[in-house]
Amino acid sequence: MEMEILKNFSTISLALFLFTSSALFSLTSGEIQSHQFVIRATPVKRLCKTHNSITVNGMFPGPTLEVRNGDSLQVQVVNKARYNVTIHWHGVRQMRSGWADGPEFVTQCPIRPGGSYTYRFTIQGQEGTLWWHAHSSWLRATVYGALIIRPRLGQSYPFPKPDRETPILLGEWWDANPIDVMMEATRTGAAPNVSDAYTINSQPGDLYNCSTQDTTIVTVDSGETNLLRVINAALNQPLFFAVANHKLTVVGADASYTRPFTTSVLMLGPGQTTDVLIKADQSPASYYMAARAYQSFQNAAFDNTTTTAILEYKSAKKGNALNPIMPSLPAYNDTNTVTAFTRSFRSPRKVQVPTDIDESLFFTVGLGLNNCPPNFNKTSCQGPNGTRFTASMNNVSFVLPRNFSLLQAHQQGIPGVFTTDFPGSPPVKFDYTGNVSRSLYQPITGTKLYKLKFGSRVQVVIQDTSIVGPESHPIHLHGYDFYIIAEGFGNFDPKKDTSRFNLVDPPLRNTVSVPSNGWAVIRFVADNPGVWLMHCHLDVHINWGLAMSFLVENGVGELQSLPPPPPDFPVC
Ligand code: C2O
Repeated sequence: MEMEILKNFSTISLALFLFTSSALFSLTSGEIQSHQFVIRATPVKRLCKTHNSITVNGMFPGPTLEVRNGDSLQVQVVNKARYNVTIHWHGVRQMRSGWADGPEFVTQCPIRPGGSYTYRFTIQGQEGTLWWHAHSSWLRATVYGALIIRPRLGQSYPFPKPDRETPILLGEWWDANPIDVMMEATRTGAAPNVSDAYTINSQPGDLYNCSTQDTTIVTVDSGETNLLRVINAALNQPLFFAVANHKLTVVGADASYTRPFTTSVLMLGPGQTTDVLIKADQSPASYYMAARAYQSFQNAAFDNTTTTAILEYKSAKKGNALNPIMPSLPAYNDTNTVTAFTRSFRSPRKVQVPTDIDESLFFTVGLGLNNCPPNFNKTSCQGPNGTRFTASMNNVSFVLPRNFSLLQAHQQGIPGVFTTDFPGSPPVKFDYTGNVSRSLYQPITGTKLYKLKFGSRVQVVIQDTSIVGPESHPIHLHGYDFYIIAEGFGNFDPKKDTSRFNLVDPPLRNTVSVPSNGWAVIRFVADNPGVWLMHCHLDVHINWGLAMSFLVENGVGELQSLPPPPPDFPVC
């Protein structure tokens, strides 16, 4: 009798166990999507001229990936171009899949011409808009596309379901080979040529030569709501974005939902995404959506052109559709508008911000100037007063390795590839945003990583410097989302600025636009082992060394450790 009961009990509990585990399974596992990305040169005609641009599958912008939270992606990248290439899935957390993150020489060696590599990763707990782009040289000028993450099957957006959804990719176009533009700058030490156009979904729009017939048109029915997934895929320029006569309701950014707020203009640093709802509640006509530069750096050349697309009401009379209304955009240097916009971001509800901090870090970010090395020709020192431009974090200008990726060197214990002495605070304290002595303009170079114990709670104060000139830097961290708990101008002052920390509902992002001549404070928990690049998302600044990497150690057991690299992992 007793035996009988026991047996029944164990059958029931086994059944219960099976039931709960399969319920869990259906909660955590989504579909597996397979794609092939063939990287190759493709004729692309813009601004009256055809260039052989590097594209994915001959498409520009590249294919849009549409997944659900919980889905897995396997993307085979086949390199049929004449350049090394890697693809980065910008903003994807890559939990324990660092081998698929993509930055060249950080997590992997590049895919050589003729080679291929399959990126395998799972989207976990992220919803909204991300994107993918090449992470090698300046290839991302033309190698990029949207990555749309919808809620799990049976779940819905935290806002009324929009009638339409449109990705809006803001890009930057050179009437030249962008790789050559970058190489020329490396040769001369000067700033690279600025772009010749901005683009919306790869089209410059009506305000440029030879472009009107291809302008991007987004059609709507009166009364409809459209979800615009705006992505700043430009190489080097933070951008304002507005739609004539229409208000934009921000509902998400960097694949996290935000508390909705309404604005007439967005500002996105390169790397950032913003999801907005736009209601077609104006008289049936055509309206321009437009983007142009937010230029915080003073006295430097920048591309001051304006890209446009058309929001076209289907019921618009022919005549009305012909002359779209132009939105007013802020002045190029309108930092006040940027500040008001960024300060509107909140998480939708109270969030778990780490409060007890294990690692309190302070990173300066900014430019620098190297004196012309003795063995260099004058033509190689065309920066200000015969110098070469450089950039650094905490006075270290980051140098990528050549023979191994940092992640591989870490996992396989290969010595001599990097050191772990990246300083947790600036080696010299100075008035960061004041008049900086010329003696502090020249950083050291190094491949220095900062080691983090698994699970450590990290705060980083990111402080802009006025070396060469203050500028708003879009700082991006790979492998993580972070809370932006405060921002301000001048030098960060722990005595008075700590009281301004938002530990209740700060926004969660992967890229922070650090205020020009100011600072931002971010927090995250180091729960993803691997080597994670943190850098300015202005590509010109990465070239100059505005980067560092975190080395997050394994925790305890398999679920807190990075597995070995996949068999097709590219070697250098
Ligand atoms: Cu969007 Cu390191 O990249």
